[in-house]
Amino acid sequence: MSKPDAARTALIVHAHPEPQSFSTAQMLTAAGALRDAGYTVDVLDLYAENWPPALDRDDFTSTDGYFKPQAEQQRAAEEGTLAPRVQEHLDRLLTADLLVFSFPMWWFSIPAILKGWVDQVFVMGAVFGGDYGLFDKAALAGKQAMLLLTTGGPREAFQSGGTLGPLNDFLFHIHRGMFEFVGYQVLDPVVTYGPARMTDEQRTEALEAVRESVALVAGDSQLTVH
Ligand SMILES: Cc1cc2nc3c(=O)[nH]c(=O)nc-3n(C[C@H](O)[C@H](O)[C@H](O)COP(=O)(O)O)c2cc1C
Repeated sequence: MSKPDAARTALIVHAHPEPQSFSTAQMLTAAGALRDAGYTVDVLDLYAENWPPALDRDDFTSTDGYFKPQAEQQRAAEEGTLAPRVQEHLDRLLTADLLVFSFPMWWFSIPAILKGWVDQVFVMGAVFGGDYGLFDKAALAGKQAMLLLTTGGPREAFQSGGTLGPLNDFLFHIHRGMFEFVGYQVLDPVVTYGPARMTDEQRTEALEAVRESVALVAGDSQLTVH
């Protein structure tokens, strides 16, 4: 069932080690745009939290014998024995109507700390599998997710025929393999290409473009959620 617009919550999961980075400024700009669009915004800053990136058997109570991570996740979800830091982030994930991953593109993907967050918080038995299925049967069906990223490469390199190739090809494993897999409807990504080469003036303009893009996507998302 839909919530009134004013009650919608966005969870931004941010992964950049430098508070002064463009990526962090972009995240703060996006958070402001979402608040202006009526969202309650929750920010998880993974580096600031010193989030341990690796899924580890020591996080589970039953560590004897063969360790099968997804079976242990399912059991821990059912028994309420997930590691407290994972349970807390899972609760925040399940509360959010809109999930935003905020990150610099590293090796054509998300930074390891964010990948490790997905490994640990997209818990089998709680967001998919167990009582839930996959895709539109998963626990987050009816919710929305989007990527907010920066790149090193320029915009033209990420076009079809460009030196790197179409951006959406690189984002597919996140859009399909992480977001849609657990039920999310995927919104258009918001991207700033090559902020490292910008002047201060261009940086200000780029942040304004981010604010407008996020406002547009957030506005459209409220229209498409029923
Ligand atoms: C480990 C690492 C891997 C990177 N891989 C890519 C890449 O695959 N494609 C790309 O365009 N830029 C890549 N970059 C460049 C970053 O995306 C770029 O510096 C960042 O998005 C700029 O934003 P920032 O100033 O907020 O860090 C990489 C940078 C690092 C540190």
